[in-house]
Parts: sequence; C-alpha cells; structure tokens
Amino acid sequence: MTAPRILVVEGGVPCRGTVRTPGEKSISHRAVLFGALAEGTSVVYGLSDGADVAASVAAVVAMGVEVERRDDGGLVLHGGRSLLHQPSGPLECANSGTSMRLLAGLVAGFEWQTELTGDASLSARPMDRVAEPLERMGAIVRGQGADCRPPLVVQGGRLRGIEWTTKVASAQVKSAILLAGLTADGPTVVREAVTTRAHTEEMLGEAGADLTVEPWGDGRVVTIRPSSLRPVTPRTVPGDPSASAFFVVAGCVVPGSAVEVQGVYQGPARLGYVTVLQRMGARVVLTPEPGGTVTIGATNLGPDAPLRAITVAAAEIPSLDEIPALAVAAAVAEGTTVFSDVGELRIKEVDRLAAVADMVRAFGASATVEGDTLSITGVGRSGHAGRLRPARFESQGDHRMAMAAAIAALAADPDADHHHRSLISGFSAVETSYPAFADDLARLAGTEPPAPRPLIIAIDGPAGAGKSTVSRAVAARLGLDRLDTGAMYRSVAALALSRRIAPDDQAAVAALADDAELEVGRRVLINGIDVTDVIRSPAVGVAVSVVAANPEVRAHLVRRQRAWAAAHGGGVVEGRDIGSVVFPKAEVKVYLTATMEERARRRQDESPDGVARRDRIDSTRAASPLARAPDAHLLDTTGRTVQDVVEEVLSWL
Ligand code: DC
Repeated sequence: MTAPRILVVEGGVPCRGTVRTPGEKSISHRAVLFGALAEGTSVVYGLSDGADVAASVAAVVAMGVEVERRDDGGLVLHGGRSLLHQPSGPLECANSGTSMRLLAGLVAGFEWQTELTGDASLSARPMDRVAEPLERMGAIVRGQGADCRPPLVVQGGRLRGIEWTTKVASAQVKSAILLAGLTADGPTVVREAVTTRAHTEEMLGEAGADLTVEPWGDGRVVTIRPSSLRPVTPRTVPGDPSASAFFVVAGCVVPGSAVEVQGVYQGPARLGYVTVLQRMGARVVLTPEPGGTVTIGATNLGPDAPLRAITVAAAEIPSLDEIPALAVAAAVAEGTTVFSDVGELRIKEVDRLAAVADMVRAFGASATVEGDTLSITGVGRSGHAGRLRPARFESQGDHRMAMAAAIAALAADPDADHHHRSLISGFSAVETSYPAFADDLARLAGTEPPAPRPLIIAIDGPAGAGKSTVSRAVAARLGLDRLDTGAMYRSVAALALSRRIAPDDQAAVAALADDAELEVGRRVLINGIDVTDVIRSPAVGVAVSVVAANPEVRAHLVRRQRAWAAAHGGGVVEGRDIGSVVFPKAEVKVYLTATMEERARRRQDESPDGVARRDRIDSTRAASPLARAPDAHLLDTTGRTVQDVVEEVLSWL
C-alpha cells in the first residue's frame, strides 16, 4: 500500500481505538547500523518504515550485510565486521542526514574508500562537523566547499583515538566519532557542553562496547575504547513520540474521540507536547508499560469543555516537531495560543512556520507570525459553532504538515459550507516518516468508505468520448497517475490473438488475464512484450469487445485495477465500468459522451461502423455493461475544448 497522493478526509468522524506509531527514527537507524557491525544475527522489530531508515538499511546491504524481512515484521540482519566489504558504488543517503553522518563514522573504521551521496537538500547541509574529527583520527574525508557538503568521499582505516569537544550540539556528530572510536588504537573521548540524545552511547553499551559516560558541566564526557559488538536481539524499537502527537491531538480535538497510542518511546523531553495539551485542559493520560515505553490515552471532552489557549515556550518541545500537531489543538481552542521562539521552524523541510499559519487559516482559525512568535486564535465556542471548516491544503512535500492537516480535516464540521470533505494534496510526503499514517488513521475512524482515503477520479464513457485526453490532463493537473483500463482489455486480446487463442475461448482467455504480467503506463507491456502499438490495431479492436464481455476476464482485471490504485496512492482511472463497478466509492465520477459523428471523427484509427459496433456490444453485454453510474456527472464533450472540460471536472472536486 502506497500513501495516498491526495487525501480525501470526511470531517466530524470520531477516532476510537488503539494505534502504534512506527519505530523511533534515531533508534531505528542505530539498530540497523549497530546490527551490521555486531558479530552474528540480530532481529529488529518495529523499525521505522520511512524513507530515511530505508537509506541506512540499503547502505548496510551494499556493504555485504544480508538482510531478510520476516513474516512477523522483524528485520533480520546477518552482520559482523569481518563480513563487511567495500560497497561497489556510492552509499545513497537520500534525505537522511542521520544516515550520512553515522555512516561516515562507521566506514572510517575500514581500510577502503566509500562515497556517500544525498539528495539536493542533504547535499546543501554541512558535513565539516564530522569530517574534522574523523580527519583528526586519521581518516581522509573529502566534500564540496569549505563546509564539506556531500557527496563525501571517506578513506578509512588505522584510526587513532582522540579527545574531541563538539562545537555544535549534535548527537549525529558524537555518534560518528564514537563509531569510528570502535576501531581506533586507543580510547576516544567526546565531550559535549550540552547533552544531546544519548541513543548511541546507550545502545553501544548494550551491544558490549567498552564505554563510560560521565557528567561534565551541563553536558557530559563519553569515552569509548576499541571494542567489538554483539547482537542485541531480538530488539523492539519503541514507537516514535513525534508521530504519536498526531493521534493524541486527534483524540483531543475530534468530537467523540478516544484514542490510545501504545508503545511510545519516552525519552527526555520527547513528550513535552503532552504537558502542553494537558495545560490546555485536554484529557491526556500517560500509563507506563513494562519495558520503559508508555501508552498515551487522549479523550475528547465535548463541546462544554473546549481547550484553553496558553503560551508555549519552544523549550517545552525541543525539536519543534510537534508544533504542526499542537497548532491544530490551538486552532480549536478558545482564545489565542502563543508559541514563542519558534523561528527554527523556518528551516525545516519547508518554511514550516508559514506552512503552519497557512494551514490554520485554511481550516478557519486565524494565525499571525511576528518575528519568531506564532499566534493562533482558535475557533473556540464561537466561529463556525466552535468548529473548523473543511479545506483544501497543499503539504508542499512536508510530512508533518500533511499529517497535521489530516487531523484538522477530521475535526472539521461536516455541515459547514455544504461541503463536508477536505482535500490534502502532496500527501505522499508522509512516506518520509510514516507511510501507513492514512491507513492507521482510517482504522481509528473505522468508517466505510474510510474517512481519510486516497482520491480516485473515475472517468467512463463510450469510445471517442474523450476519456484518454481528459483523464491524462486531469491527472497531470492534480499530480496523480492515470490508468487506461481499456489498454488492459486490449492487451489481453492482443496476447490471445498472438497465441492463436480464440477470443471467445472463455477459459483460455481468462487464464491469460489472470497470469499475464501486465504493465500499463506510458508504454503498455504484457509478459514483457511492448504492445503499445499493436493494441490499437483493427484486429485487436474487433477482438477486445468479446474479451471484455468475459466475466472471468473482468474479475481478474478489476482486481488488478484496484491493486493499481492501492500501489499508486489513488489516481485517475478511465474505462467503461470504473464508477459503476471498479470504484463505486470514487470521489468524483464522470461520464463523458459526445455525438456519434464527433466520436467517429475522433477515432480515426477505427471505422465509424466499428465504433458503433463496439459501443453496442459494450453497452448490451451481461457483465458490467457500459452504463452511467447514477452519481456520475454527465458531460457532453461535443464541440468543447479540452481545457474547458478539464476545468469543469476539477470544479467537482
Ligand atoms: O477505452 P478503449 O476503447 O481502449 O477500450 C477498449 C475496449 O475495452 C472497449 O471496447 C470495452 C473494453 N473495456 C471495458 O469493457 N471496460 C473497461 N473498464 C475498459 C474497457
């Protein structure tokens, strides 16, 4: 299942039940990298399934670690220092700064050269802070410009122990030095003036590294001596606390909700957002679990106990990752909530300070930004009867904005402005940290069709009505993929003809529809053969109506069409039965027509008689005949421009 491209959210649906967030990201990265170095087999459960941690997994695989995914969700790593080898190409860290900095320290311990690359945004980030100490230890690290930006080339091996005081408070820099210190010729000492996240020293200690931690002013000193690691197995990565904020806020703000987030990591200051919500008057309860994690329960207190506006200091939520979720709580509260000192939000994935203010306004509350202060005045008990209103929002590639907007949309008043749904575009940004977020949220909402669901646009109609042109243009405008289901029926017909199977041999043709490998994109491939042109031939045009009347063929292709939508996060799908059979709950259904003369003129590859004959068979067959779904918009394209038709379709969103 791929994250929806555009999320459709039904407002006012309560969230009830329990949920677990993906594994905490910092711990997930370390579980993978330390598992790679540990001598033996490690099994890790609950690993973050986001793109960042996937980059770390791919990197250790490239260095020779065998990785398997078990049916029970565990990731098995067969690791060991002696098994690792020089990767045959660059280690691609994508957008993951953690992967790049930690890997730089890890590969510095090996006598080979490694290239580390990243995407455009990671390639703009400074790596001198890790390069400098690693060079002091004896590695050679080359990057771009004075601040040593990626791509990085690290020549490792024969490291010396050093004493290093970190210049910037960074757990990643500390971790890189400690990883390199595992193979240095003596002790390596890292001093940090301010304590940063301690996952690395804690997890290295668990894995048997010879390591001591002592206080040093407000910070501390970590000393590591050359060590080999052993597997810590099985390991369960605790749930990500930042991701929990979205569900907890949903529990607080969506009327009628009661949500429990289980297995949440409870590191220092990571649950500051819970205290903020409690100060706003929300009912949020922490229950410790065995193993050091916590269950967070959040209950909506109803219209008579609205949340209160408060002042929030940035220090309460150090990473600021929970601000987008808290902004939704502020947007429903009574009064003006002030977030002070949150200027750092400007340099997140996007200008998140502006994005949060835009989101709050879109859903009907108000927001101002002055300097580093964000003020949000909630709808409280006034405004739209104290409710947010449905909205359209673009997440601009920011996963946290996408998730926060989904919660605001669920909280929105279903009766406002006569339209009860919100649309969140750019929603696939959640793949960075939480690909299954919409599924988990939908499970809590528990409605059919799901209250948050991927946008699907169904376009049906007879041959020559303009489906292909219109569906292509609508998909392009919305950034969605498009599926031409007619090409699927045509491909099966073409394969049958090429194998000399009679189109009316129902069982044999159905077997093709079931087994064949089918790829319908810009090119159309069946069993690896490019049939893009062949399927438009007159012979296929005649055979396809017979093939499409075969109910078993239809069943197989409908199954594949639904799988396509799941794999593409929704999309624009065109055919004959899309709104009526394949996606009866599609958000927008369009039935295109045009006069017979116009359709015949458009289908120049086919005789007017052929078009008429195909229409007749398609409309009169027993299995899913061409028919307008009762809730489909009827649109006659005769004499209209594409632009004009597309605008009309988009107006129905
Ligand atoms: O869209 P098209 O003309 O390329 O479709 C070719 C044939 O496939 C059409 O005559 C009927 C059949 N078809 C169908 O039965 N159901 C669909 N969803 C799509 C096409």
